[in-house]
Amino acid sequence: MRIMPPEEGTPLADVIVVGAGIIGLTTAWRLVERGWDVTVYDPAPASGATRAAAGMLAPASEIVWGQPSLYPLMVESARRYADLVERLVPGRAADVGYLPTETLVVAFDHADRAALDELTALQASLGLRAVRVSSLAARRLESALAPGIAGGVSLPDDHQIDPRALCAALLEVLGDRVIRSEVAGILREEDITTGVRLADGAEHRSGQVVLCTGLTSLPGVPSLALRPVYGDILRLEPSRGTRPLLTRTVRGLVRGRPVYLVPRRDGSLVVGATTREDDDPRPSTEGVHRLLDDAWRLVPGVLDTRLVETMTRARPGTPDDIPLVGRLDPGLVVSTGYFRHGILLAPLGSKVTADLVDRAPVDPVTLATLDPHRFDRPHPTAGGAP
Ligand code: GLY
Repeated sequence: MRIMPPEEGTPLADVIVVGAGIIGLTTAWRLVERGWDVTVYDPAPASGATRAAAGMLAPASEIVWGQPSLYPLMVESARRYADLVERLVPGRAADVGYLPTETLVVAFDHADRAALDELTALQASLGLRAVRVSSLAARRLESALAPGIAGGVSLPDDHQIDPRALCAALLEVLGDRVIRSEVAGILREEDITTGVRLADGAEHRSGQVVLCTGLTSLPGVPSLALRPVYGDILRLEPSRGTRPLLTRTVRGLVRGRPVYLVPRRDGSLVVGATTREDDDPRPSTEGVHRLLDDAWRLVPGVLDTRLVETMTRARPGTPDDIPLVGRLDPGLVVSTGYFRHGILLAPLGSKVTADLVDRAPVDPVTLATLDPHRFDRPHPTAGGAP
């Protein structure tokens, strides 16, 4: 049993959160809400995968086949977003770009339509709301869609947030608890984590350390099953005198390739994202070309915009695309590996992580699903069992 039993009478102690991406920041914020004295270390807060993210809160349109343990986490976390936003910025949801508007998924051709229909059947079987719409109906919703699209699906429960604005709000609330310093390693005594060592050699001791370090591994921490999955993503702005192209998130399949266009309040459009495991952190020319080509096939007006940003970041991937959240030792909790779902899963992931720090009860199925050691064990069918 890796989760330590609650220790009665244990006083609240300092917590160090290493990493200030969306997971580190939301976890730190929750811990502060619960009365913990929290310090967050990150040399460049919110500048990794979080900065690239489009911010789709899409439990329906982000599902892929064969991940039944992940679906309930996505749905549960999406359900928690409104509460997180209201507690963080009361009455100002728009300030963090929280838009509970539907997502429209469209098909480029009839093969894409067939693939979309299969996915819609999966979504419906999971109780997710998905309404098939004709090409005409889709174009009535979004007049910038290409006339030739082969219809689509409306997903009323797939919303969006602006991750940059959300992180700005979290950083404002956390204030000087966030220290722009690099952590070089953890401190351990008798196999228990007792704090961190900074890159400048300074040591900071604490009762609990929480690692929200994405792909970064630290000396002294057991190695985790993580790999970088690069994504290229673009930001477009309307050219002078033109109106924003879209009013809601449009996702699409173009000859089997997924693409998404997420409109922001300022009229800009986030277009993403490639999925590359070529270990190259530079924007891929082919990737950028394909994104623009696919986006243009669905929304021709894309060619009238200005390309204002091209960004590449690595998603922290795990073998089953499910995060790694759990206690590694009595002083160390890890929360990483959120892959494509860091923004969507932040409310749930930060809650589970804060509960682990608090030694509060956590649903055992969720804990087993997220167990950071689950890949250490041999597969049940391995070893030649008949
Ligand atoms: N969640 C969107 C992406 O990873 O591209």
